Amino acid sequence: METVQNQVEELGYVTANLPEGKDLVQEIERLKKEKNAVILAHYYQYPEIQDIADYIGDSLGLSQEAAKTDADIIVFAGVHFMGETAKILNPGKKVIIPDLNAGCSLADSAPADKFKAFLDKHPGYTVISYINCSAEIKAMSDIICTSSNAVKIVDSLPKDAKIIFAPDKNLGRYVAQKTGRELLLWDGACEVHIDLSKDKLKLLQGKHPDAKLIAHPECQQDILEDADFIGSTTALLNYVKTQPYQKFIVATEAGILHKMKEAVPEKELIPAPANQENTCACSECPYMKMNTLEKIYASLIHEQPQVFVPEDIRLKALRSIQRMLDLSK
Ligand code: 13P
Ligand code: SF4
Repeated sequence: METVQNQVEELGYVTANLPEGKDLVQEIERLKKEKNAVILAHYYQYPEIQDIADYIGDSLGLSQEAAKTDADIIVFAGVHFMGETAKILNPGKKVIIPDLNAGCSLADSAPADKFKAFLDKHPGYTVISYINCSAEIKAMSDIICTSSNAVKIVDSLPKDAKIIFAPDKNLGRYVAQKTGRELLLWDGACEVHIDLSKDKLKLLQGKHPDAKLIAHPECQQDILEDADFIGSTTALLNYVKTQPYQKFIVATEAGILHKMKEAVPEKELIPAPANQENTCACSECPYMKMNTLEKIYASLIHEQPQVFVPEDIRLKALRSIQRMLDLSK
């Protein structure tokens, strides 16, 4: 018989049979209470996962929540670097991610050995890394940032500071423009955001000339230069909630539309089209979408797969994340 450990090693996730006649969502709720577990979910999760989450947020909000939770188990419905960040901040908790295969193309664009060689070639720089990176990269960085606070973090450094910004070159270029600083950029990108199609977007804008274009800063320059507003997922959500406009084209992962539609059902929200033909013809992160209610249920039953970070790396990474959290209060 296949053991739970075998499943984790072979599949990267665990399975569990739902007892006959039981409701999946109710069982997840029951297990959460029984085990004092909390479910943290990113806005890019499937709607049914957002609906059972105790907290939904962008990367900054999720790390703040992970740092302060008093639950015994954190189930992180997001991607691997998010689970790692939760473990770094709150090592006494069991941190579970429903599928260990849920990585991130942006985090993968900065392998630790190549990054170390890059830093060795550029001494004297302050290293600011976007939270979408591995624990090893965080440990080599001076400060972490997210898309909510990147401009503020860069601006917290002296004007003459030499800064390396990694791993997202698109966010880096945007922050350089906003702060008027020269940043040495690592050449990484998010495969989901760079797949948004400028040509299809132009056609869409032609059909909806009254729509405001709002975009995540991980998008490429040609989309950002056209945007009426640029911000993190939470900032985009707040924008549609608070601005008086009726129609928006949303250039980011389409998962955010769930909360937007709930918040402003009377407004028209159009996902920006992707180059690739995804099922939604919009933009979906294949890693975020590896999480399902079934995997969350099984992970709560078995309390697996867990995320671990070696203690020497954790302590170094904690310093750079804590610096960000202190600057974000
Ligand atoms: P935020 O959560 O900061 O908006 O970033 C989006 C993202 O790509 C997460 O992987
Ligand atoms: Fe990574 Fe992009 Fe997916 Fe976010 S949307 S998890 S940056 S691949």
